[in-house]
Amino acid sequence: MKKTLFIFWVFILSFSTSFAQYEVQVETKKPTTNIQSDMYGIFFEDINFGADGGLYAELVKNRSFDFTNSPLMGWNTYGLVSVQNQGGPFDRNPHYVKLTNKYELLTGTGLINEGFKGIGVKEGENYRFSFYARSKENKSMKIAAELIDSKNNPVGKIEVEVYGKEWKKYQGLLTAKLSDAHCQLNVSLQSLGEVDLEHISLFPSKTWKSRENGMREDIAQALADLKPGFFRFPGGCIVEGNNLATRYQWKNTIGPVENRPVNENRWNYEFKHKFFPDYFQSYGLGFFEYFELCEDFSSEPLPVLSCGFSCQFQKGREEIVPLDSLQAYIDDALDLIEFANGSASSRWGKIRAEMGHPAPFNMKYLAIGNEQWGPLYHIYLEAFVKQIRKKYPEIKIIGGSGPDSEGAEFERLWPQMKSLKVDLVDEHFYRSTDWFLNAATRYDNYDRKGPKVFAGEYACHTSPVKKNNFESALAEAAFLTGVERNADVVHLAAYAPLLAHVDAWQWNPNLIWFDNMRLVKSPNYYVQQLYSHYMGTDVLKTSLKGKPLAGQDGIYASSVIDKNKGQIIIKVVNTSTSEKDLVFSLIDYKQSKSQAKIISLKAEMDAENTLDNPFAIVPKEEILSIKDNKLNLKIEAQSFVVLVY
Ligand code: AHR
Repeated sequence: MKKTLFIFWVFILSFSTSFAQYEVQVETKKPTTNIQSDMYGIFFEDINFGADGGLYAELVKNRSFDFTNSPLMGWNTYGLVSVQNQGGPFDRNPHYVKLTNKYELLTGTGLINEGFKGIGVKEGENYRFSFYARSKENKSMKIAAELIDSKNNPVGKIEVEVYGKEWKKYQGLLTAKLSDAHCQLNVSLQSLGEVDLEHISLFPSKTWKSRENGMREDIAQALADLKPGFFRFPGGCIVEGNNLATRYQWKNTIGPVENRPVNENRWNYEFKHKFFPDYFQSYGLGFFEYFELCEDFSSEPLPVLSCGFSCQFQKGREEIVPLDSLQAYIDDALDLIEFANGSASSRWGKIRAEMGHPAPFNMKYLAIGNEQWGPLYHIYLEAFVKQIRKKYPEIKIIGGSGPDSEGAEFERLWPQMKSLKVDLVDEHFYRSTDWFLNAATRYDNYDRKGPKVFAGEYACHTSPVKKNNFESALAEAAFLTGVERNADVVHLAAYAPLLAHVDAWQWNPNLIWFDNMRLVKSPNYYVQQLYSHYMGTDVLKTSLKGKPLAGQDGIYASSVIDKNKGQIIIKVVNTSTSEKDLVFSLIDYKQSKSQAKIISLKAEMDAENTLDNPFAIVPKEEILSIKDNKLNLKIEAQSFVVLVY
């Protein structure tokens, strides 16, 4: 008898679970707000060897021998090699090396570069070896460059003749006979006598858009594939520097690459357990190249400049420039606007034109300060706001709300930003899975009249280990339904950080991981990409029993219309452990179609993509038949679905 009753209840329960339907109303004729066409962007910082050793395709580390206090870092020398700092060709990178072969060539003289955790080369590909040299000998002198793989096999060699007492640039192509991720480059003097060498460089011939001072093709392509609406650069804490002297100064990053003064990287000794004393910024990827990439990606440039504070996380060592010396920093901001937007005859626009871009870059945004807090930030920011507004009223100024997503400083900074009337406020949140799920309603009650939100850095940090697993991606997808629903408040959004070298990272998790040969896109990447590719033009009210879907039974949803493409796009996240049956009724939708496209992202919660298994979690597409504008969707447990109708 008891057994029969038990079976009866199991039947009733399973019947009710599997047939519970969620009737969702999508009001198609009354968009609640339009969506900024540049809403989903990228945040780039040279952290985790993201620029030097990453996106920037240079393969030689410390090519100009100017790493602070360690001019030979990254190099091993043999024979007679000495470092010089007088009489070099580049005043802002003064060091170079002198190679001498005194008597015979038995032991030889030369130097070997270790690259960025090795030099990655691919069989059959060409590499452009270049350097500056001079020789006081009255004969031509032979310089050889040879790539050697991790097992000491020769990979490719080139010899270049050098002649004359004046510094000149030399170059040649070297073809790799095999592939290896951890080669070294041996540069040697093959003649008797003396030669000075400077700015020794090796680039793949194939770079993004075939530019000489180019970017790694696969990484740039992965960024382009996100269709980023905006591109925030150059950081992050790197903007602020370890101290004011090492802050990011954009003027040092333009002009000929050889004479851009090397600077230490903010992330070289930040973490004791992640000590990278060899992490410097060559600035080969500088502001001109950033603007160029923005153009390539059709992204709005969004530079961030120092507001006169060094990184405030450097407890006890932070520096703030005296207020009466702030004008130089404000001038940097005004000059940057001229560099980006001024005519080719203006002082800074002329430099842009000389670098090969006479047309303006049409920069619209400028952020002042990264993660500042304390009683002084708004006073400093005000000085910038006044002068920028006066000279360039069209520029949208971005202020910050500190490093926290809530709390006393956040509560203090927001009203200050409002009273300064900045256009956008940068919010950062590196938070837990639960935080992200709860934050799906974060913006529902934000002030509609104040500055807009720039969700400038966010990432779900899972516990106990921070991972780019599916759990984190799903939580971000759920959070973004709330961002999308509140597109009148949140104008810009970007995940952070963007890039990480698997052998040289300081921060985890990151959107894209790479080694010297390959890259892998995290599931978080695909979430960002789906939001960006299917962003629509206007938000549609989407409700269950009159309320937005923001976590009821683990369901999160938002809908948009794309007026240009004539599409309704619905995004649904199911974080629960059971399948959900949803029926979306498109209220007042006159068009009727027989099919919809369904794109879904689904995996075990702890699953990850890796370099060896990069496609474990990727979006899958299928076609759904539709009748009477009723979109009936069975959303698998723990999955993210985008429906395009
Ligand atoms: O994204 C990594 C760091 O996090 C950024 O440099 C900084 O803005 C934040 O603290």
